[in-house]
Amino acid sequence: MASFALLASIPICGAHPGMADTFAEVRRAAAKEARADSKQLIGDLKTLADSKLTAIGKDIKAILLDQKDARSSVIDTSIPAGNVDSAACKADLCCVWKWISYEMTAKFNGTSGRCTKLARGAVRLGFHDAAVWSTSTSYGGADGSILLTDEFSRSDNNGLDAISNQMKTWYTKYKPYGVSMADLIQMGANIATVVCPLGPRIRSFVGRKDNAKAGPTGLLPAETDSADAIIKLFAAKTIDAHDLVALVGAHTTSQQHFVNTSRDGDPQDTTPGIWDVAFYPQTQKNPPPRVLKFRSDIKLSQDSRTVGEWNEFSGSNGQDHWNEDYAKAYTRLSLLGVNNINDLKECTKVLPAARNSFVSEDQKVLDMWLQGQFNQLNDMVDNAIMLTGLT
Ligand SMILES: *[C@@H]1O[C@H](CO)[C@@H](O)[C@H](O)[C@H]1NC(C)=O
Ligand SMILES: *[C@@H]1O[C@H](CO)[C@@H](O)[C@H](O)[C@H]1NC(C)=O
Repeated sequence: MASFALLASIPICGAHPGMADTFAEVRRAAAKEARADSKQLIGDLKTLADSKLTAIGKDIKAILLDQKDARSSVIDTSIPAGNVDSAACKADLCCVWKWISYEMTAKFNGTSGRCTKLARGAVRLGFHDAAVWSTSTSYGGADGSILLTDEFSRSDNNGLDAISNQMKTWYTKYKPYGVSMADLIQMGANIATVVCPLGPRIRSFVGRKDNAKAGPTGLLPAETDSADAIIKLFAAKTIDAHDLVALVGAHTTSQQHFVNTSRDGDPQDTTPGIWDVAFYPQTQKNPPPRVLKFRSDIKLSQDSRTVGEWNEFSGSNGQDHWNEDYAKAYTRLSLLGVNNINDLKECTKVLPAARNSFVSEDQKVLDMWLQGQFNQLNDMVDNAIMLTGLT
């Protein structure tokens, strides 16, 4: 850090053309270091000495401190050791999660190859369980409470009925095998993310504890909030402006139902069901008429604290940069309120493989829909159904 500070203070009057790039790189590296320095630890990692950390505790600490990638391609493509009731399956901690991953993937992957409404719901549900926490609350966070208490009935959670019913069905089925609601919800978010084409494959940890107490209120952002209010709300969750910009990018996959009910099913960019970066530039421009931009997203795309990162994700190599940053930011979010991080186990290997390229075969019909035609297709697009036989 000191070396960067020194370089940054060298007068650039004598710089020849071509050095500008170098200076920009140095500034960016310095900003990255400064940001890494400001990263806060959470849960038990705040107080545990390094000598007390497990291998997973060390890895998570490094991810939180922006020193390690939160993505992984470690995969186990073999069939599970046995059915979920078998002794062989019970002897392998991740075996039950492999079965769960199969079930979730089947529901999250649409016939178009895009990810379904249920997948997008799983990402939002993961966010809404975990984000109900702040540094000044002593409870809440990724504790399953959204579905274990009446927390679910809060208006924040409008539109989550289908995924919540599905998640409760899975919970009833897999709870006897030791699966917590908190883990099921966060594993659901990570599986949904990677099932969406181009989505990052986020390292996935299990062992969170459930809480039968509803989380504190007033901790989720609203579409009408100012950029300042949202930045402060997230800062109180240890999520900085940069991570916030990465997290809102999940709107790249979504289709809204409640922000404007007369436009039920309208997407937030031109590629619902695809984990691409189209959302970032389109929020700053005039996308096709079908796209409904959230007012809070427009404000974040313009605020001085967030516009820089917004532009980075919009630019060249934005996809990999975003995936890397989203994976880290989501890992942090998914561990808010978790006080046994050092004891978690890893089951990343059960996630399906990431898809790094994708072309919608029904793009011609989608383009007409994006221009405002065919409202009757909203549900089919929402369910990621291949739009064939329509042209
Ligand atoms: C999802 O479906 C697409 C197309 O139907 C397929 O190519 C892809 O492998 C599937 N993804 C997973 C994770 O099963
Ligand atoms: C919702 O959409 C309708 C139709 O486009 C529009 O007339 C109305 O102003 C929108 N309402 C809000 C709150 O944005």
